[in-house]
Amino acid sequence: MNAAALAPSAFLQPLPLVDQDVLGKLNVNGPRYTSYPTADRFVEAFGPDHYSLALAQRADGAGAIGGGIAPLSIYVHIPFCESVCYYCACNKVVTRHHEKAVEYLQALRREIDMHVAQLGRGQAVSQLHLGGGTPTFLSDEQIEQLFGWLREAFRFVPGGEYSIEVDPRTVDGDRLARLAAIGFNRLSLGIQDFDPLVQQAVHRVQSFESVAKLMKAARDSGFESINMDLIYGLPRQTPQGFDRTLVQVSALKPDRIALYAYAHLPARFKPQRRIDASQLPPAADKVLMLSRAIRQFRAVGYDYIGMDHFALPTDPLAVARRQGRLHRNFQGYSTHPDSDLIGLGVSAIGRVGAHYSQNAKTLDEYYDALQRGIFPVVRGLSLSRDDLVRRAVIMAIMCQGRVDIESIELAYLVDFRKYFAYEIEQLAPLVEQGLVEMEPDGIRVTPMGWYFVRAVAMVFDRHLQADQATERFSRII
Ligand SMILES: C[S@@+](CC[C@H](N)C(=O)[O-])C[C@H]1O[C@@H](n2cnc3c(N)ncnc32)[C@H](O)[C@@H]1O
Ligand code: SF4
Repeated sequence: MNAAALAPSAFLQPLPLVDQDVLGKLNVNGPRYTSYPTADRFVEAFGPDHYSLALAQRADGAGAIGGGIAPLSIYVHIPFCESVCYYCACNKVVTRHHEKAVEYLQALRREIDMHVAQLGRGQAVSQLHLGGGTPTFLSDEQIEQLFGWLREAFRFVPGGEYSIEVDPRTVDGDRLARLAAIGFNRLSLGIQDFDPLVQQAVHRVQSFESVAKLMKAARDSGFESINMDLIYGLPRQTPQGFDRTLVQVSALKPDRIALYAYAHLPARFKPQRRIDASQLPPAADKVLMLSRAIRQFRAVGYDYIGMDHFALPTDPLAVARRQGRLHRNFQGYSTHPDSDLIGLGVSAIGRVGAHYSQNAKTLDEYYDALQRGIFPVVRGLSLSRDDLVRRAVIMAIMCQGRVDIESIELAYLVDFRKYFAYEIEQLAPLVEQGLVEMEPDGIRVTPMGWYFVRAVAMVFDRHLQADQATERFSRII
């Protein structure tokens, strides 16, 4: 990467307020590019045998970088939730029957053992994320047991990032202290909005006071980084009401903030059918909520990392951002280089070498595969050379806000301007709208363009070009 690629990019400059005309033209549906190709492109032709082969290649050293294999990331999906939030688009099983977790943990154990059989015991791990669903649906003892199995199977390196998603309604200060003692050093709290009217409309009521108490307890327990998830675009949300939430969140000073645009896809996510569409805020209000959130969080000292993420300047994510070391994986922005990701649990996504894989989405299918002794992988994708080049370009746009033409040419042995002649043509309207700048040796996203970085990335997505079926994604804003 040359010096220009490290030059301050769009999001280090003051962000302008987004222009309504530009919004009208660009508020198209688009993927979030936590991977390229995106998960909806995975195919059923990729199954357990392909996954097994990818692991075997890794075991043989195909993932070696500079003489060693980069430490693994592990994602574990815990699907259970006690009650349903109407907006939720996650893979979950709503139940009050906690005994269901016992069978699930046994299945996870089998899945871990199968990985050990394939990779060997003691592979280094530098990132663990327990997501859901609600990981804290499990008891402390069950979480400890799960962490114990993972520790027996893998070697967790000191200084790694070990995080857990926490629904604030399911924990108290003691539970948080226990999670820290088990080995987690990062927390992600699902907040969404503190406005009681919004909370009722989405069936998720949790007071600001209870969350403030948890924040203090989490700090006292020594968690190194605390993230809060917020959503704008929820039913009954107004810019005024959301302003109050922004001030309340600022007062709690989480290290990171994820601010998601509400993805309303009731045809795909059944609980969303309980949302009265007439209560959803209009597009203009959503833009206002987003731009005020950006202004507010920046005013109280957060760096805008990109897309949905903010971080305090001292947080490793903000440091990585400044140093041009940002990466993107299925959990969003990350400080860790492209390490292989092992996805465990129902619906979990993994990436080993140049192969993506996804586990069965239903518990029955997941259990069935493991009982038969095969990996529960039901879809995936082996990346072609073209996928790899485009992935590099799209990730450079999403993470650095700039594509350095020469580094892509050198890494992938292509003549960039020839290879992407069609895409460069497609960028012209974005250049005209002031969202992108063409430089002699690169392509740069402007501060205004940073609001629409997905739209810039989409130009390079061959799969979108192929079918233009963009209605499957949620709105960018
Ligand atoms: C997988 S959920 C798990 C969090 C945890 N169960 C909780 O509720 O606190 C992670 C985050 O996804 C976000 N999310 C869920 N459904 C969404 C939707 N339809 N649109 C945008 N964000 C959504 C929420 O911010 C949520 O906190
Ligand atoms: S937001 Fe969290 S708690 Fe609510 S239904 Fe989704 S996964 Fe479960």
